[in-house]
Amino acid sequence: MVFAVEDTTAQLTWLGSLLPADAGRRGARHHDTAPAASVTAQGRGVAADATITARDLATGDVLGSRPYLDGSGSIELAGLPPASTSTVSLDVDGRPAGCVRLTTTATLGPELSRFATLSDIHLGLDAFGLRGKIVEGDPATPSRSDRAGDSGGPIHLRAASLALDQLNAWGAEHLFIKGDLVDRSTPAAWALAGRLLLRPRPPVTVMTGNHEHNHAGLVSPLTGAVSAGIDVVDLARRVDLPGLSVLCVDTIRAGVHGGRVANTVTSAALDLARAAPGPVMVLTHHPIDRFDLPVSYPPGVPNRQGAALIGRLANECELLLVSSGHTHAHRLRTIAGVSTTEVGSPKDLPGVWAGYSVAEGGVRQVLRRVDSPDINHWLDHTRFALGGIWGRWSVGRLADRSLQVRRGAR
Ligand SMILES: [Fe+2]
Repeated sequence: MVFAVEDTTAQLTWLGSLLPADAGRRGARHHDTAPAASVTAQGRGVAADATITARDLATGDVLGSRPYLDGSGSIELAGLPPASTSTVSLDVDGRPAGCVRLTTTATLGPELSRFATLSDIHLGLDAFGLRGKIVEGDPATPSRSDRAGDSGGPIHLRAASLALDQLNAWGAEHLFIKGDLVDRSTPAAWALAGRLLLRPRPPVTVMTGNHEHNHAGLVSPLTGAVSAGIDVVDLARRVDLPGLSVLCVDTIRAGVHGGRVANTVTSAALDLARAAPGPVMVLTHHPIDRFDLPVSYPPGVPNRQGAALIGRLANECELLLVSSGHTHAHRLRTIAGVSTTEVGSPKDLPGVWAGYSVAEGGVRQVLRRVDSPDINHWLDHTRFALGGIWGRWSVGRLADRSLQVRRGAR
């Protein structure tokens, strides 16, 4: 599928093997999180050192390549013409492996800066699903044994580490974590957060989510964060990057799953927006609900409160985009005339981080699915949550994931 598309780049992803097996059904459901050892690359008639190549079908130009991956994966495309439709073919050492059509966006002009976001990592939990029944394979499985000597840690830490490495390689100049970094505010969970942030990375700004403030914690979020060397956002904080200010706004209601916009937060956010040197993007943990009463799960910020905040901020600054986490899903909605996005988590399907490319003409959301054989098998496994609904619901439409907002469009 076309997972993400920008002006000259895109990411294609697939679930299950890119090639049909000589034996077995394509895309078979593997409830085991271990690599699908039953059907090897050789079993599909593919050399161990095979290469996946993406080409423009019309011109034959190579747009991307990567080593063959026997299972779910992705390929990066580059050098696409802006604002045009192309047909892209994939092959594995010349063996056809599918075709997709995609349409790139128009360019926004020279890039001024780029930053990234992560959210909903839930360090310390390492289970998924409504009742937490999806857990990583038994320690005796081959995948775990293979890792016995490594220090990658539990699955949520490994998924977040991979996302951090990938966004760092992408060139993010700042990282914002939009809450639920830890599942409960415990010393052990914050120690994992500290360990995560020891990796090579850009400067980071950390917001808290409802999970840091639930009643299952053992230490206050502030105390826990400080122990990990993290200075969490209180009320609101603005980070000025070339071409865009990022305004982090606290939507927490301690001990409650849903969010709110407190008067103190509104006041702090308005002051910061008013003083912004240029256009602004707002980050929150909770998205803004469709109605004042929550009719979907998980609950966000009541519509009236959220829409009022966006409207007031938009009166004080050039507000381009609002983005949240919390739902672990992907949605694009317009609220009070401003585009708002929900972006998922690196640790459950589809497994993402988001980049933002800031240009003279506006800002572009660059969503990327994480990709590593170790993590992909876990992500594939999580799609069966909620009786399989999760795999279809969380991914959203391409328009929910890939978008750009032009300056002066409102
Ligand atoms: Fe949350």
